[in-house]
Amino acid sequence: MDEPVPSRQESPVTTTTAPAARTGQAAARATGLSKVYGEGETRVVALDGVSVAFGQGEFTAIMGPSGSGKSTLMHCMAGLDTVSSGSATIGGTELVGLRDKQLTKLRRDKIGFIFQAFNLLPTLTALENITLPMDIAGTKADRQWLDRVVDTVGLSGRLSHRPSQLSGGQQQRVACARALASKPEIIFADEPTGNLDSRSGAEILSFLRNSVRELGQTVVMVTHDPVAASYADRVVFLADGRIVDELTAPTADSVLDRMRRFDAKGRTS
Ligand SMILES: Nc1ncnc2c1ncn2[C@@H]1O[C@H](COP(=O)(O)OP(=O)(O)OP(=O)(O)O)[C@@H](O)[C@H]1O
Ligand SMILES: [Mg+2]
Repeated sequence: MDEPVPSRQESPVTTTTAPAARTGQAAARATGLSKVYGEGETRVVALDGVSVAFGQGEFTAIMGPSGSGKSTLMHCMAGLDTVSSGSATIGGTELVGLRDKQLTKLRRDKIGFIFQAFNLLPTLTALENITLPMDIAGTKADRQWLDRVVDTVGLSGRLSHRPSQLSGGQQQRVACARALASKPEIIFADEPTGNLDSRSGAEILSFLRNSVRELGQTVVMVTHDPVAASYADRVVFLADGRIVDELTAPTADSVLDRMRRFDAKGRTS
C-alpha cells in the first residue's frame, strides 16, 4: 500500500464536459435522471434532471451538502433504487425498465458497491467475504485476478481472518476487494472512508486510485472530504438534486475553495 501522494499542482478551473460524456465511452451514464420520493406534503425531489457520464478508467468524486442527492444518484445508477424519470445506463445497457431478474444479474456482473458500513458477513473469513458474490452466482473466481486484487489491497496475510479480527481499515479493504473481484464495469463507493481514521482512509483512497491506474477500474466515490476528493481525476458537485459544478484534476485546496463558494444550498455566490 503506497503512501498518499501530495496534492497535485493547482490547475485552471474548468467546467467542461468530461471527454467520456462527449465520445460516448462511458462506463455509466445518467441522462435527465430524476428521483422523487413521497407525495403531497412529503414529496421530495432528490434528483432533478441529472445528466452525467463516468468515463471508463476514470476516478470521479461526488460532493455536495447533506441531502443533495449523492447517495440517491449512486443508488439509481447502480440499479439499487428505481428512477422516477430519465435514463441510467451501465456499459450501454439501460437500467430503466429492466425486470428484477435482469437487474440482479446486471448488478452482479457489472457493478461493485462499497458502502460506508463495510457490510461484511461476520461468520465468513476475509477470503470468503471477497468471493461471496461469485459463490452465490455460482461463478468461479479468476484466481490470477483474485491474487492481484488481494495483493493490491494488501490483505495477503489476513485472508483467513474474520471481520472481528480485522481493523476498520482492513475490513473496508475486504469490502473493496469484494467489489473488485468480479471485474465489474464500475465501482460505486458511498463515503467509503467515512468510518475510518485518516490513515486507514488514506490507504483505501490509495487503493481505489491504484485500482483505476493499474487495473483500469472505473470508480465513482461520494465523499465530504476535500482531501479524499483530491485522489480523484474529477469532482462533480451536487446541490438540491442537480449538478452545479465540476472540477478536473482536483487538489484539496481547489476543492475546498470551490466548496467555500457555495452557500448552504450549494448555489454559487
Ligand atoms: N427513501 C427515501 N424516502 C424519502 N425521502 C428520501 C429517501 N431517501 C432519500 N430521501 C431524501 O432525498 C434527498 C437526498 O437524499 P440522499 O440520501 O441522496 O442525500 P445525500 O446527498 O446522500 O446526503 P448525505 O450526505 O447526508 O448522505 C434528501 O432530502 C432525503 O431526505
Ligand atoms: Mg448519502
